[in-house]
Amino acid sequence: MRKQTQLVGAEKLMLSDVVTISRQFLRSVRIDTDIGREDALSGYICQGTAISLLESMAHQITETRQRAFTWTGPYGGGKSSLALMLCSLVGAQTEIRTKAKQLLGLPEGSLVHKVFEAKGDGWLVVPVVGKRADVAHELSAALAKAKSLPASRKKQPDVVGELVEAAERHPQGVLVVIDELGKLLEASAQDGGDIYFFQELAEAASRCSGKLVIVGILHQAFDAYASRLGRQSRDEWAKVQGRFVDIPLVAATDEVIELVGKAINVENPPPLGEASKFADRIATTIRTRRPGTPVTLADSLRACWPLHPVTAALLGPISRRRFGQNERSTFGFLASREPLGFVEFLNGYEAQWFRMYGPALYWYCRPRSVDQDHCADRDVPQRLRLGRGGVDSGGLDPGCGRATDSQGA
Ligand SMILES: Nc1ncnc2c1ncn2[C@@H]1O[C@H](COP(=O)(O)OP(=O)(O)OP(=O)(O)O)[C@@H](O)[C@H]1O
Ligand SMILES: [Mg+2]
Repeated sequence: MRKQTQLVGAEKLMLSDVVTISRQFLRSVRIDTDIGREDALSGYICQGTAISLLESMAHQITETRQRAFTWTGPYGGGKSSLALMLCSLVGAQTEIRTKAKQLLGLPEGSLVHKVFEAKGDGWLVVPVVGKRADVAHELSAALAKAKSLPASRKKQPDVVGELVEAAERHPQGVLVVIDELGKLLEASAQDGGDIYFFQELAEAASRCSGKLVIVGILHQAFDAYASRLGRQSRDEWAKVQGRFVDIPLVAATDEVIELVGKAINVENPPPLGEASKFADRIATTIRTRRPGTPVTLADSLRACWPLHPVTAALLGPISRRRFGQNERSTFGFLASREPLGFVEFLNGYEAQWFRMYGPALYWYCRPRSVDQDHCADRDVPQRLRLGRGGVDSGGLDPGCGRATDSQGA
């Protein structure tokens, strides 16, 4: 099937002519380079799960001596975006702080505002993006950069001591965010690095008389990064993580649907006809089984067209499943050009309401690492096989199973 945009005398619009994926959702957020950039905050949508996480941290900081946290969640689940918001909320630039406050939209009396209050020059913010390297050196370099000093040349910098000293001297506070902490843990597992560094860091933060808050960002629990080490080491790692309070950052199904709807832009959509009723029916079914589901669910599902509403509703739960191993994020899937993927679907079909990317297609284009056997080519039914340059429906619409003419397929 070739992409065909012109019929005799009439323009034939393909899905790819009317559907685009918002660039906002295609870039990965990098806290160390995005901090201080107002445009990097634009488009952030603060959802209930993110608010609960910040409130939970604020409560612990107010009511206990706990100052070290880990946030654990699936790939592409918005961890770095939220970390960037937190860094921006307390950072040095007033206008960025104001923008972060607006985007977070927390109620005026929220404890988060009290705990993360910043004025004047703000807090000292130390953003680190982990890589396979020694954690003490990475943290020491990031601290020097945050203080606008040259990097330390010491072989074994006492970065924990330096952080405590910085927090005790600072009139407001020091926030250390270690994104991609898993990479540093992997380096420790591989090179026999010192895992007790993290324990020391967490304990120092809780003992410090200044405000020193540590956030580490992970995809899975500490000990899972030590899977190749022996049982005893894994137990030690789990014990070290016990010094941190772990808060999951896992968006609820309706939150994922809302974000997916925002990520899929449709210009001049065709009349959605029955597709709209599908969304209503599926939203009603979900709401019947899960009474807490927001009343706006049907609208959110409609906004996901040409994703079939069932596919849209499945993306969240699938990204949560075994998320330590599932390396394809929800937004990565929307942009992926893999066979039977969403982009191929958009290129392969005319823009008509019944062209919806259904759960069957999603199932067969899942990465091999997730469900090896089910992705084997021999298992792909004939009606879903690829034609040249697109999805060959074999006369059946792969989305809703409706019989169609084979034009454009
Ligand atoms: N709440 C949100 N509002 C707006 N955009 C979001 C939100 N959550 C995630 N995104 C977008 O989704 C993409 C992935 O987000 P982000 O990089 O923050 O996820 P992550 O959990 O850090 O991913 P990874 O596991 O790959 O590090 C980004 O393009 C980001 O802009
Ligand atoms: Mg990230």
